[in-house]
Amino acid sequence: MTTRTPEQLRDALVADIGSWGTFRTGQVEAAFRAVPRHLFLPGVDLETAYAPQVVVTRRAPDGTALSSASQPDLVAAMLEQGEVHPGHRVLEIGTATGINAALLAELTGPTGHVTTIEIDEELAASARSALAAANYDQVEVIHGDGAAGYPDGASYDRIMITAGAWDLAAAWWDQLAPAGRIVVPLRLHGSGLTRSLALDAIEPGRLVSREALVCGFVPLRGVGAHSGRALTLADGVVLRVDDHDPVDEAAVRAAVHSPSHGLWTGLTIHDHEPTAHLDLWLVTADTRFGRLTVDTARHDGRLTPTRRWAGATIHDGTTIAYVTLRPLAPDTDELGVTAHGPRAVTLAAQLTDLLHHWRKEGPTEPVITAHPADTPDDQLPTGHRIDRPNSRLTVSWKP
Ligand SMILES: C[S@@+](CC[C@H](N)C(=O)[O-])C[C@H]1O[C@@H](n2cnc3c(N)ncnc32)[C@H](O)[C@@H]1O
Repeated sequence: MTTRTPEQLRDALVADIGSWGTFRTGQVEAAFRAVPRHLFLPGVDLETAYAPQVVVTRRAPDGTALSSASQPDLVAAMLEQGEVHPGHRVLEIGTATGINAALLAELTGPTGHVTTIEIDEELAASARSALAAANYDQVEVIHGDGAAGYPDGASYDRIMITAGAWDLAAAWWDQLAPAGRIVVPLRLHGSGLTRSLALDAIEPGRLVSREALVCGFVPLRGVGAHSGRALTLADGVVLRVDDHDPVDEAAVRAAVHSPSHGLWTGLTIHDHEPTAHLDLWLVTADTRFGRLTVDTARHDGRLTPTRRWAGATIHDGTTIAYVTLRPLAPDTDELGVTAHGPRAVTLAAQLTDLLHHWRKEGPTEPVITAHPADTPDDQLPTGHRIDRPNSRLTVSWKP
C-alpha cells in the first residue's frame, strides 16, 4: 500500500526518467507529468502503475506476454524519437492500455489528431474507456490489424508502432505523409534482435533511420506476425536463430553438454563507450548469428553468455561460440569468447577475429535504409541487405 498520491508518484517517475537523460525536450516530460497512468491500469496498484518498469497486462496460455504498458523510459525515448509536434496527425499501432495514445494526444494538442489501432478487441474497448475517463476522448481507437493502417485518417505525419515489427507494412508506406516519420521497433534478425528506428521519408520510396535504440517488444500479431525460431538446448537454455540458417538441432543440444573452449581476447571496453550495437554489427559481418539466453535459476551456470548483447552468439549449425565479459576494473571489462561443439576451437577463433575487427573498425551507429520490396539491387545503397516481404533494408555504419 502506498501513501503517496498519483501526482507524487508521477513526479517521482518523471524524476527517474529525467535522471537517466531520456527526456530531450520539455514537451515529452510535460506529457509524462500530465497523463494519469493509473487510470489506464485498472486493478494494478498505484506504486506498480508508476514504477519505471513494464507492466504485462495480457499473456498467452503458455505465459508469453501479448500486451503490456511498455517500460516508461522506453516509451519516453520513442516519443523523443518521434519528435511529435502540436498539430501533427499521428497513427499509433498497438494501443494496449492507451497510455502512449494519451501521451501522443498531449504532444499533438487540440489541433492535432491521434488514431490508435489495437488488434485485441477487449483491449481496444478498455483503452477507449480509459482514454475517455482521463479526458482524452478525442483519441480515435480502432479495433483492427495495424498492418492495414487506417486509410480513412491518412496521411499521417508520424506512424508510431509499439510492438515488434518484422517488416514495414505496405500500408505504412502508403499512409505516411511526405517528409513524415515512422518510429518502429524493427526486428532486424530472426533471433529477435530489435532496434527502435526513427525512419524519415527522405523521398518517395526511401526511408532513412536517424537513430537506432536497443529495445525489446512483444511481437506484432496478425498478418505481419513473425514468430522467429527458438531452439531449446537444455532446461532454461534457448538459442534463437535466423529462420533459414541450417541448424542440426541434436548436434547443438549435444554441444552445450560438451566441454567448453574459452579464451580472453585482450580487448577491453569501458562503460562510457558506445558499444550497444556490437550484436547488430556481428549480424552485418555476415555471420550465422544467434542469441543464447540462459535462465540461471534453471541452469547450472556452465553457459555464460553476456547479457549485455542479449547473448550474442555465432554458430555453424553444430557448434556455437558466444561473447563473454569479465570485469577488469569498476568501469572496464574484457571481451572473451566461449565455444561448445565439435568445431569449438575454430569457431572461437573466428569470433575472436570478428571482435578484433569490430574494435578496429569502431562502428558505433548503424544507418538503416528502407526501400519498397520491388526496388532493384542497383538502386540500393551499399551495406548489409535484409529482404522482407514489403521492404528491402540495408544496414551500414556511420563513419
Ligand atoms: C507493447 S504493447 C503496446 C504498448 C502501448 N502502446 C503502451 O501505451 O504502453 C503492444 C500491443 O500491440 C498489440 N498488437 C499486436 N499486434 C498488433 C497488430 N497487428 N495491430 C494492432 N495492434 C497489435 C498487442 O495486442 C499489444 O496490446
